Amino acid sequence: MTSVHFAPSGPLRGSLRPPPDKSISHRAALLAAMSEGETVVEGYLDAADTRSTLDAVRALGAAVAIEPDGRDTASVRITGVGLRGASAEAGGRIDVGNAGTLLRLLPGWLAGQRGGSWTLDGDESIRRRPVDRVAEPLRLMGARVECRDERLPPLTVHGSELQGIDYRLPVASAQVKSCLLLAGVLAGGQTRLTEPAPSRDHTERMLRAAGAELEIEDMASLATARTPSRPRITVRSAASLRLERVAVPGDLSSAAFFIAAALLVGGSDLRLAGVGLNPTRSGFLGIVNRMGALVEVDSESVESNEPRGSLRVRSAGLTATRIGPGEVPLTIDELPLVALLGCFAEGETVVDGAEELRHKESDRIAAVVEGLSGLGGELEAAEDGFAVTGTGGLRGGVLDAAGDHRMAMLGAVAGLASRDGVDVQGFDAAGVSYPGFEADLRRLLTHA
Ligand code: S3P
Repeated sequence: MTSVHFAPSGPLRGSLRPPPDKSISHRAALLAAMSEGETVVEGYLDAADTRSTLDAVRALGAAVAIEPDGRDTASVRITGVGLRGASAEAGGRIDVGNAGTLLRLLPGWLAGQRGGSWTLDGDESIRRRPVDRVAEPLRLMGARVECRDERLPPLTVHGSELQGIDYRLPVASAQVKSCLLLAGVLAGGQTRLTEPAPSRDHTERMLRAAGAELEIEDMASLATARTPSRPRITVRSAASLRLERVAVPGDLSSAAFFIAAALLVGGSDLRLAGVGLNPTRSGFLGIVNRMGALVEVDSESVESNEPRGSLRVRSAGLTATRIGPGEVPLTIDELPLVALLGCFAEGETVVDGAEELRHKESDRIAAVVEGLSGLGGELEAAEDGFAVTGTGGLRGGVLDAAGDHRMAMLGAVAGLASRDGVDVQGFDAAGVSYPGFEADLRRLLTHA
């Protein structure tokens, strides 16, 4: 296992363009494969997870040409097979690697391919990730789906004739919603989904760009200041999709590691360019703002239906905050960083309503609480979140990434801001979403 040491550092200075958004890259490859003709994806994330998606669409018959364009970026041309043209010729086995998004989204498309059968499987971590959350509603639409112990991968989908459903999602999960939207495009009639709280809406934006008929009602009128709005999305059956060009913005979830590092290491002043700022994704910015961070946003624009902009981050003293269930889906992947910031903030930082964290690449409640406690933090786990008592800093030590890319990068940032530095065991997991992370980070460091 690779162990990498991250020593306490001087301020982070300079500028960085974070790697392309992972969620949007997965969707671009899938929707391109489902479309007619050629799609050009500019700024596709070239990392292990999104390579799995390109391999999957290739196995389903799409033609894929990749041209590297920087370390973690590629320009990708995909010639689709059309909505109902997925091929089962390669034996129907699809290796999703470590990619939970591929595991949950792809069955939506495959469920509507009459006559084909596919089995999706992946690495050790993927085999622990629940798929009943997509299997159950897909069965309600008429699909035949099997999974291990009724809950876990491998997941087998036998394509069938689908019918639209009216479905209330039990959890605010963009992966489940997206799966059902893809199935909905193939199903007869209309599919109507109600979310318990807003989750990232990249699929809705891209489906619209591809010509799908989608209606989004904001149930905010029924919400009070204390209860989140409940978006209701209706998608209608489509004859075909056509997606010409997708320009992928930078990944805010990757940028968040640099935001946290710049906030924690005194004297830092960092610029992050071309970062995706979709409001259903950028909850982390609101949270750090409440904690007293200095983050300025400028050069905002919209490309391929997705807002983006540049950020300037400077170090600041932080105060604790509380994050509740409505805010959780808007910042789900950044909650480990909120725990790290909480270790340095004044007061008690509490996250609740985040049971979903237990079902990520690792059990992120356990991994974060054990990992940061091992570095000298004061954290307590709850069933659906954690509480962190700020002690003004971290001692340092050893953190096990537990095969989770976000834990690996969290350990690195903790090391820079700690007293003695951090050895991150299994650091190579970072390559799942950000192969160039260490090089980018080291380039921005100045000497302590
Ligand atoms: C993702 C949605 C989130 C997130 C994951 C990517 C997506 O999962 O944690 O990293 O691309 O739709 P859930 O939707 O299951 O919460």
